[in-house]
Amino acid sequence: MGGGAEVSLSQDEEQTLIDAAFAAARGAYAPYSDYPVGAALLFDDGAVITGCNVENASYGLSLCAETVAVAKALGEGRRGGLTAVAVVGLKADREPITPCGRCRQVLNEVAALGSTNPLVLCVSKDDVRRVSLSALLPHAFGPGHLG
Ligand code: THU
Repeated sequence: MGGGAEVSLSQDEEQTLIDAAFAAARGAYAPYSDYPVGAALLFDDGAVITGCNVENASYGLSLCAETVAVAKALGEGRRGGLTAVAVVGLKADREPITPCGRCRQVLNEVAALGSTNPLVLCVSKDDVRRVSLSALLPHAFGPGHLG
């Protein structure tokens, strides 16, 4: 349940992660929603792994940016060490985007493997909201429940 201390990043570290998420969003394949999203995951060794949303003509099969980034990270062998996440919606002009419920659960998998409580930066054009993953997904179900 949300193991790990609260994370805070320097302004430079935050900006670098946010820039990576914006760059990822520019690769989004979102012809149906026209709502490009980018996500950037920061790991404790300094690595940044990004993802964008990938939609499908069968709408329900679309993948969110955070889920794509987590799939890449797990596929590259990462099993924990998730420090922070930036999520940007290129059209999130007013309210900063926040990870959808499914993505909160997907992010929790990597966080739980390393007992971290990543800082989530929810970003719009002129606002950044900082919230921990455990605040977004309290009492999360995770690998630890499976024994
Ligand atoms: N989307 C994400 O990529 N991440 C979220 O956390 C929320 C929604 C995507 C899914 C879909 O391609 C588009 O945004 C509109 O819902």
